[in-house]
Amino acid sequence: MKKIKSLSERGQTAHNNVLRIDFELFFEASGNMYHKETNPSGAFPLNTAENKQSWHLLKEKLEMLSLEKSIPTWTANYTSCLGDEVFRKALAGFLEKFLTKCPINPDHLGISAGATAIVELSTWLLANRGDVAVFPTPSYPVYKQDIGNKAGIERYNLITHHEISEISQQPSLKIKHLEKAKKDIEKQGKKFKILVLTTPDNPTGLIYTKKQLNKIADWCINNHIHLIVNEIYGLSLIDTTHPKIKEDYKKSIGFVSFAQVMQAKKSPYLHLWYALSKDLGISGFRVGAVYSLNEPFIKAYDNLNAPHLVSNHTQWMLSEVLSDHHFMEKYITHNQQALTESYALVANYLKQLKIPYVASRGSLFVWADFSEFLKKPTLKAETKFWEKLYQNTGILLTPGEGFGHSKKGLYRIVFPCFGIDDLEVAMKRVSTYIEKIRAKS
Ligand SMILES: Cc1ncc(COP(=O)(O)O)c(C=O)c1O
Repeated sequence: MKKIKSLSERGQTAHNNVLRIDFELFFEASGNMYHKETNPSGAFPLNTAENKQSWHLLKEKLEMLSLEKSIPTWTANYTSCLGDEVFRKALAGFLEKFLTKCPINPDHLGISAGATAIVELSTWLLANRGDVAVFPTPSYPVYKQDIGNKAGIERYNLITHHEISEISQQPSLKIKHLEKAKKDIEKQGKKFKILVLTTPDNPTGLIYTKKQLNKIADWCINNHIHLIVNEIYGLSLIDTTHPKIKEDYKKSIGFVSFAQVMQAKKSPYLHLWYALSKDLGISGFRVGAVYSLNEPFIKAYDNLNAPHLVSNHTQWMLSEVLSDHHFMEKYITHNQQALTESYALVANYLKQLKIPYVASRGSLFVWADFSEFLKKPTLKAETKFWEKLYQNTGILLTPGEGFGHSKKGLYRIVFPCFGIDDLEVAMKRVSTYIEKIRAKS
């Protein structure tokens, strides 16, 4: 580890640990981005969770607002450290109507600069340094840094399956897995303090049923473990009845928000995360939210959130957008149709290539199994295939490393970060490459 005298020990750790292992290639690929006319041999960075398919609708709405509305004076002032009341009210109304389908009390919401800040501060308040937060794998890699960098909470990867065929319809997390994790953590002299679920899930796109959520919530409450459900992809749903993909879905599982479970159980151990980054495709606006019926938690959040606040101007603009339910209805319908078409395109290419994948029900991802192309089931071989695919095709996927899963050779494909015509070019390149290496071997 490199020593840097001018920094604190914390500063040195930050200097020596990169946020994401795929960032370097991501910036290289982004500098050589594919363009049909100007750069037809360019690269496709399909590794960052961005949805670019509906921005044109939101952009037009925001531009209209700038022309038509005068900026209210409160935006220039300091306001509540939980997020301004105007915005929390608008967000609560939006969530009730479109996501949770149950009442949301704006006084129990905290607003911060993106889900990243929400994850960091919530976990900081709920667990102590050295405590453990459990994530059923595969799971969003950056949770590790978000809970670890400042709060010093450890990530425990809970393996519930090995092959993706074991999770063909829904997440396989059971109470027996949680019991095992608890024993394992306690044997190491540590405390299992937090369980985090993501639904729809990153990277599998699977959805937890209400029955699963209820069971897991009861177990957590009985064991005094905080259960936090991240619904950052809650409105990015795939139409599983679409004729091009419907045969992949043996069970009909609709999205049900964890807020309904919270509403029924009213426990201080249950919490919800949300952000506008994915469902509205505005990761750059930096808007996230935590919802909790735990009043001391919300008070503590209020006292510590000042460094993470969202600009009042952004809060105002977005409160105008979110309160226009007619617009939001149109936006969400368009967005889900576009997501479904792009998802179906990728799924059909993978099916033709006989590459196993998880049939997604939501999110921006396809979690696919390319392990057939690894010489050995090792991390080294997994990284090598990822680099070779990029060097030969310009397609950059998110490598499996960091998702914490046991099987090597799984990669995440982000499908809405290009328009559907460009995505087809990317999938054709993957297809040609796969056929070439199969022919060689
Ligand atoms: C599950 C999950 N949580 C949190 C984040 C971070 O989101 P934000 O950009 O709002 O900080 C992401 C981004 O990919 C994510 O997938």
